[in-house]
Amino acid sequence: MQGINLEQSVVAITGAGRGIGLAIAKRLAAAGARISIGDIDVALAQQAAAAVDGFAGSLDVRSPASMAAWLQATEAALGPVDVIINNAGIMPAGAFLDESDALSDTQIDINLRGVIHGCKLALPGMVARGRGHVVNVASMAGRLAVPGLAVYCATKFAVVGLTETLREEYRDSGVAFTTVLPAKVTTELASGTDTAARGVPTVTPEEVAEAVYDALMEQLPEVTLPRYLSVLNPLQSAAPHWLLRGVRTVFGDRRVLEKMDALARASYDQRIGALTKKS
Ligand SMILES: NC(=O)c1ccc[n+]([C@@H]2O[C@H](COP(=O)([O-])OP(=O)(O)OC[C@H]3O[C@@H](n4cnc5c(N)ncnc54)[C@H](O)[C@@H]3O)[C@@H](O)[C@H]2O)c1
Repeated sequence: MQGINLEQSVVAITGAGRGIGLAIAKRLAAAGARISIGDIDVALAQQAAAAVDGFAGSLDVRSPASMAAWLQATEAALGPVDVIINNAGIMPAGAFLDESDALSDTQIDINLRGVIHGCKLALPGMVARGRGHVVNVASMAGRLAVPGLAVYCATKFAVVGLTETLREEYRDSGVAFTTVLPAKVTTELASGTDTAARGVPTVTPEEVAEAVYDALMEQLPEVTLPRYLSVLNPLQSAAPHWLLRGVRTVFGDRRVLEKMDALARASYDQRIGALTKKS
């Protein structure tokens, strides 16, 4: 399979009103793609679309009906969707037993079900045309356990499994699948993590966007950010449990539980708390 020709492509990006999704929108627009922005914050989606001369639609990835309506509106405005980037996600932090059922459900609904809805609704057109690319934004927390992010990790591990399975199930369809696995990215989602994530490799949203561009150009199955972290995956599978536990203890892997800056995180927590109440 050849990489996508972005100058003739329509790219639909979920959760692109800010953060990583917005940076991807800007990078792919600069490469000539026509961009559709979907976000639950419609005002932000419209601002983002204006910045990339694209289309904006209201989208709640939790709802298949909302996903279908946004994709249909995108196709009516720009043409068939060649690339979908399932990026919308939330990351509450704290002890598993302190997390409300509603907040656990909201993470599963947005981070996992939202990606499933995007894949189910964008894939049929791609398969029918015999070409397309699905990019699912997971996280290094989809490969490495992080105490304090149990349900978040569960959703991201699931997105990794979903994407790997779809890649095999649809391998003769002409559609490519990429999993994106960033460590810490400097967006609102990571606010208040400065102490908790000290020593954790950190990248900018623009670096993630560049990696997504490369993945589309080179049909990469997986991109890890920073790239050198890709060695962790085989190392983790090969190393004995006692050794991994020792490394974790030296590294201080309980910092998300113990060292989050609640004040610096308050406005992000309020934003995702509002999403939880609506569900
Ligand atoms: N920032 C990081 O450190 C980091 C690291 C690894 C992976 N990720 C993943 O990258 C993705 C983007 O995260 P970000 O850092 O840009 O976060 P962000 O909070 O800056 O942006 C996320 C966007 O998604 C939107 N959104 C939330 N719920 C939605 C819904 N139900 N429907 C539609 N839109 C919705 C928000 O309004 C927001 O504009 C997420 O999946 C996240 O898990 C982030």
